[in-house]
Amino acid sequence: MPCSDLNYAVLRHAGSDESASLVESLPGLPFEHRPSPMANGAGSLQEFVNLLRLEPAPHLHRAVAEAMTIHETSFFRDVRPFDALRQTIIPALIAQNQAKRRLHIWSAACSTGQEAYSIAMLLLEHFPQLADWDVKIVGSDVSQFVLDAARHARYRRMEVNRGLPVRLLVKYFTRVGDEWQLQSRVRELCEFREANLCAPLPPLPVFDLVLLRNVLLYFSHTDRSSVFARVRRQMNPQGFLLLGNAEQAEDSTDRFSTEFAADYLFYRPATHRPVTCSSCPDARPASFPPD
Ligand SMILES: C[S@@+](CC[C@H](N)C(=O)[O-])C[C@H]1O[C@@H](n2cnc3c(N)ncnc32)[C@H](O)[C@@H]1O
Repeated sequence: MPCSDLNYAVLRHAGSDESASLVESLPGLPFEHRPSPMANGAGSLQEFVNLLRLEPAPHLHRAVAEAMTIHETSFFRDVRPFDALRQTIIPALIAQNQAKRRLHIWSAACSTGQEAYSIAMLLLEHFPQLADWDVKIVGSDVSQFVLDAARHARYRRMEVNRGLPVRLLVKYFTRVGDEWQLQSRVRELCEFREANLCAPLPPLPVFDLVLLRNVLLYFSHTDRSSVFARVRRQMNPQGFLLLGNAEQAEDSTDRFSTEFAADYLFYRPATHRPVTCSSCPDARPASFPPD
C-alpha cells in the first residue's frame, strides 16, 4: 500500500517509540505482508494516520511498530557464526560449564524464531553429550507478531528454502500442506518471551551465549550503549556475544573485548581487575559502567 511522505513521517515518529529498527524504504512501503495497523478500526491508511494524529494512544504506536519493523531473518543466517559455534564456542562452553551441566543461550531480537531453532538443531546434531544437561534457548523480541510466529514454528516453503540444509529439513520438520512444522524435540529446547532491548529487561536467566544480530543497525549511539550495558549484565562473565556481520561493539570496549576463532570475530565480557594499589586514596574494585 503506497504511503505519502507526510503519512510516513507520522507513522515513523509513532513507531519509533516502540522499536528503533523501522523500515527506511518509504514511500511505497508494502504493508500487505505485515500485520496491518488498520486492524485498529480505521478503513484506510489515511484514516489510520488521521486517528494517530488525533489520539496518540500507546496501542496505536505499537501497531505501527509491528507493521514497520524489519523482521528479516533465516535459518543458519550468515553461516560463519554457526561454524564458529560448532568448532569453538560451544566446545569451550561445554568445557567451562562441565561441573554445573547447564547452558543458557539468548537469541535477543529473535524475529520469527529461525535463529533460536538453528542453534537448537546445531546442538542436537553435533553435541549429543548435552542430552542430559539443562539446556535453554530463550528467544526474545519486542514484536508480539513475530513471537507468535516463532512459538507456532510452522514455516513456508520460501522460509525453509533459505539457509536450511535439506537433510535437516527432512530430519527435524514435518510437512503440513504447503508448510513445514518444526518437530517438538527442537521446539522444546526453545522458549520465547517479549523483551524490548531499549527498556529495562523482564526477569531473564543469566546467559552463557548471546546472539544480538542484525538489530543494532538502526539504534542511536545512546541506545546501543545502553543495550550493550543491559546485555552485559545479563551475561555470565565467561560468556560469549555474537553480533551481526555489519555490527560492532566499538563504542562499548569497556564492557566487551574481541576474540577471533574459526575465521569469525566475537565478543566476551571484558575482565575487570580490582585496583590493588593500597596507597591510592580512591582504591576500589572497578565495576562496569552503570546503565
Ligand atoms: C532483522 S531482525 C533480526 C533477526 C535475527 N536476530 C537475525 O539476525 O536473523 C530484527 C528484529 O529485531 C526486533 N527488534 C527491533 N527493535 C527491537 C527492540 N528495541 N527490542 C527487541 N527487539 C527489537 C524486530 O522486531 C526484529 O524481529
